[in-house]
Amino acid sequence: MPVTPFSSTDPYQYVNGFGGYKESEAVEGALPLAANSPQKCPYGLYNEKLSGTAFTAPRNENQQSWLYRILPSSSHQNFQPVPTSSSQSLTSPTPEFGKHFNAIPNQLRWDPFDFDKDSSWIHSLHLVAGAGDPQMKQGIGIYIYAAGTSMPDKTAFYSADGDFLIVPQHGDLNIRTELGRMLVRPNEIAVIPRGIRYHITHTEPVRGYILELYQGHFQLPELGPIGSNGLANARDFQTPVADFIEDFEDTEWTLYAKFGGNLFQAKQNHSPFDVVAWHGTYYPYKYDLGRFNPVGSISYDHPDPSIFTVLSAPSHPHGAGTAVADFVIFPPRWLVAENTFRPPWYHRNTMSEFMGLIGGTYDAKGAGKGGFQPAGASLHNTMSGHGPDMQTFEKASTADLPPQKVGEGSMAFMFESCLILGVTEWGLKTCAKVQQSYNEHSWEPLKVHWKRPERMGVSNGEKKRGVGDAKDQSSVHDLK
Ligand SMILES: [Fe+2]
Repeated sequence: MPVTPFSSTDPYQYVNGFGGYKESEAVEGALPLAANSPQKCPYGLYNEKLSGTAFTAPRNENQQSWLYRILPSSSHQNFQPVPTSSSQSLTSPTPEFGKHFNAIPNQLRWDPFDFDKDSSWIHSLHLVAGAGDPQMKQGIGIYIYAAGTSMPDKTAFYSADGDFLIVPQHGDLNIRTELGRMLVRPNEIAVIPRGIRYHITHTEPVRGYILELYQGHFQLPELGPIGSNGLANARDFQTPVADFIEDFEDTEWTLYAKFGGNLFQAKQNHSPFDVVAWHGTYYPYKYDLGRFNPVGSISYDHPDPSIFTVLSAPSHPHGAGTAVADFVIFPPRWLVAENTFRPPWYHRNTMSEFMGLIGGTYDAKGAGKGGFQPAGASLHNTMSGHGPDMQTFEKASTADLPPQKVGEGSMAFMFESCLILGVTEWGLKTCAKVQQSYNEHSWEPLKVHWKRPERMGVSNGEKKRGVGDAKDQSSVHDLK
C-alpha cells in the first residue's frame, strides 16, 4: 500500500467519492424533504442555488448545488476595485494574450520559487503562465502561491474566473469553504470550483502551484482497457461536510472576488460561511496523491504519460480526447520493462507541459545548473523539443535493466494543455528564477552516436573532410 508522507493528522470529516450527488447537514433536519425551495426552509434558513454548469448541461455533466444558509450570498455592499497598493491586491491582474503573456518556444526551467513571508493568500498568487481569457471562459492560468501569513480574519475569497486546482508543495492549507472545511497537505491536491468562497489559514509559510481552469470542470479520465479500477480511484476523493459560523450581529466581513482577472472587495455584515446544509453535485474536494494506482508496462517500452492522469478537463473544440488541462503525476513506481530506454523518450508534442516537483528527485532531469528541484518548475511548450538530458541519456542507454523502483519519496506533476502557454513578465523576469543555461546544459551537449554502416559508402561530410583522417572524423561525430 502507498504510504502518505504526512506528519499532521486531518481533523475533518469528509464524504467520499468523485462526482455525483452528495448531501450534508451540520444540523439534523436542515435539509428540506423533497422540495428544494419550500415556502419556508427548516430553521428559518434561506435557500440558494449554486450552479457550476448551465442548467441544461447533460445530466452526467450537470453540476448544481442547493445551499441552506443563514443569509444569502447576495447580502453585501457594492464591490469596489481593490487598489494595487493594498496588502490584499492581486499582483497578476487581467491576463490578456499578447499583453501579459509572452509566447516563446524556448524550453524553460525555474529555480525554486521564494516564499513571500509578508503576503497572505491572495497577494501571494503569482501568475506564471497561461493562455486564453477568463471572460471568454476559455483557457487556463498557472500560478505559484507562496504565502507567509494566513488570510486576515473575517475575509473570504472566490474566483469567478475558474476552478482552482491547488497543489501544495510546502505547508498545510487549512481551508474553510462555504460547503465545509478541508486540510490539504503536500502530496494532496484540492479543487475549489468557480465561485465557492473560502478562507485559508496556515501555521507556517506555504508554497505550491495552482492551475485555474477557465472552462468546464475536471473529471476522471476514461480507463478504457484498464478496466473499472486503477489510476485515481473515485472513492479516494473527499468532499467536506457542512460546517458553519454563526456570525451575523455587529460584525463586518470583507469579501474578495477575482472577476474577469481583476480583484474586487465588498463589505458584508455577516459571515459568508453560514451554510448549515447543502446537497447537489457542485462542491470542493481533495485527493491524496499517495493513493494513486499507477499502471505501466510489464514487457517492453513505456506507455505515454497519459497513463498517469489524475484529472482531466476536456476541450471539446480541440477534438475527442483532447484536454485544455490534464493533471498528471509521476509517483513512486516500479520499472520492469526489458530492452527498453526507461526514461522518457525525446519528443515534441502539440500539448504544452508545465511541470513542478512537490518533493524528492525526478528521474529524467538531473543535469544542468540548478537542476529540477522541489518548488521549481519547467515549461516545454507546443512543439518545443525536449527529453532526457545528456547524462541521463548516456546512463540509461547502457544501464543494466533489473526491476527498479523510481521516484521513491518523490512526487513530480505536470499541468498539460492543448494550448500554447504564454509566460508572464513575472515568470520570465520579475521572479528572477529562470535558468538561462537550461538548454545549454541539458541538450546541447548530446553526443552523436550515429555509426554509418560501411555498405552505405562514404558520407558527404567525410568527403569534404578527407576520408581516413581520424581527427576530422571525430569532429563529424561529436557536436561539442
Ligand atoms: Fe515532455
